[in-house]
Amino acid sequence: MISEKYKKMLQGKSVIRELAEFAAERGKEIGYENVFDYSLGNPSVPVPEEFTKVMIQLLSTKSPAELHGYSPSLGIPSVRKKIADSLNRRFDLNYTENHIFMTTGAAGAVAHAVRCVTKPGDEVLTFAPFFPEYHPYIDLTGAVLKVVPPHPEDFQINFTLFEEMLTEKVAAILINSPNNPSGVIYSSDTIQKLADLLRQKEKEYGHEIFIISDEPYREILFEGAESIYVSNFYDNTLSCYSYSKSLSLPGERIGYVAVHPACKDSGLIVSMCGQISRGIGHNCPPSLIQLAVAEVVDLTADMSVYETNMNLIYEKLMELGFTCVKPDGTFYIFPKALEEDANAFCQKALKYDLILVPGDSFGCPGYFRMAYCIDTDKVKRSLPALERFVMNEYRK
Ligand SMILES: Cc1ncc(COP(=O)(O)O)c(C=O)c1O
Repeated sequence: MISEKYKKMLQGKSVIRELAEFAAERGKEIGYENVFDYSLGNPSVPVPEEFTKVMIQLLSTKSPAELHGYSPSLGIPSVRKKIADSLNRRFDLNYTENHIFMTTGAAGAVAHAVRCVTKPGDEVLTFAPFFPEYHPYIDLTGAVLKVVPPHPEDFQINFTLFEEMLTEKVAAILINSPNNPSGVIYSSDTIQKLADLLRQKEKEYGHEIFIISDEPYREILFEGAESIYVSNFYDNTLSCYSYSKSLSLPGERIGYVAVHPACKDSGLIVSMCGQISRGIGHNCPPSLIQLAVAEVVDLTADMSVYETNMNLIYEKLMELGFTCVKPDGTFYIFPKALEEDANAFCQKALKYDLILVPGDSFGCPGYFRMAYCIDTDKVKRSLPALERFVMNEYRK
């Protein structure tokens, strides 16, 4: 008999993926260049040249076993050491290779981190708006994801509601900053307040409350944005990182968990991740890609186009009278829809070949997400369509 659990999940398929599929189909009819597809967070900029050079160098110098053999289950030690050293240089911490566990992207990192610090039935709190894939990431571990409602004025943390939900059952807080979908960075004040509150509750409840910090957009920061490393504020932090966005490598599935050296049981967590990977099959990320990212560990792709796109879109949204928090980074923006039902709003936008994602699955009904990791030329061509959509449908 097939699994009822996974069968049931078919009813809750990713809205983002479905819209991306719709955009691809529409592209076959009118040419994809004419579909203003803001659905998917698939980076549009090339990998850094250095990365390509490193790949060629590796492929022409290393042995087949080094390139294509199984990686050790915790990751290649020299790679883990280079990542630890890079984090120490940038964030003034004292990681060693024993604090780094190599994963298949941020998805793999979160999958391991959650299993390390929760048991079935424990609660994990996250803050709306949040990445909808957190549901499958958490639900399948047996822990329970609870969503703290948003603070829509600035999309920082709604501390009043958070404190109410922060009960003894909470084992971990899953945060994502810079945030998908809002593009907002939690300020140092916000993170400090969060850390202070968690330390107080850890004492009160007599158990750890871990932060799982999902950081795939860590380096995509716009002018004037604060660069914040959550582990600098709170010891019991597991940083989940991915090269998918910073190096434009989502298809290569590479990232890591960095366990704060002062985290409770930090000496065990990485080895435990190795055991978890045996069970969930997210094991031994590709050796070649591990070796390659280790050589460009302090680099990113040229991501300036994301800020150019954001400014163009934000300006147009303001001109058209939208309410919207200006993003600090990422390649997402999350405005308020022009009617209460964002699904109806996004449905109407399709008539103008604008693919926008309703905010419901991000825990924010009434909002919509635009992923602007697309060519600036397309962004520019989409703005008249956005204007026509708003004028025809809402300003008649
Ligand atoms: C907030 C967030 N977390 C995790 C992921 C998964 O990233 P990866 O492709 O590295 O697994 C994404 C991907 O879009 C994301 O936006």
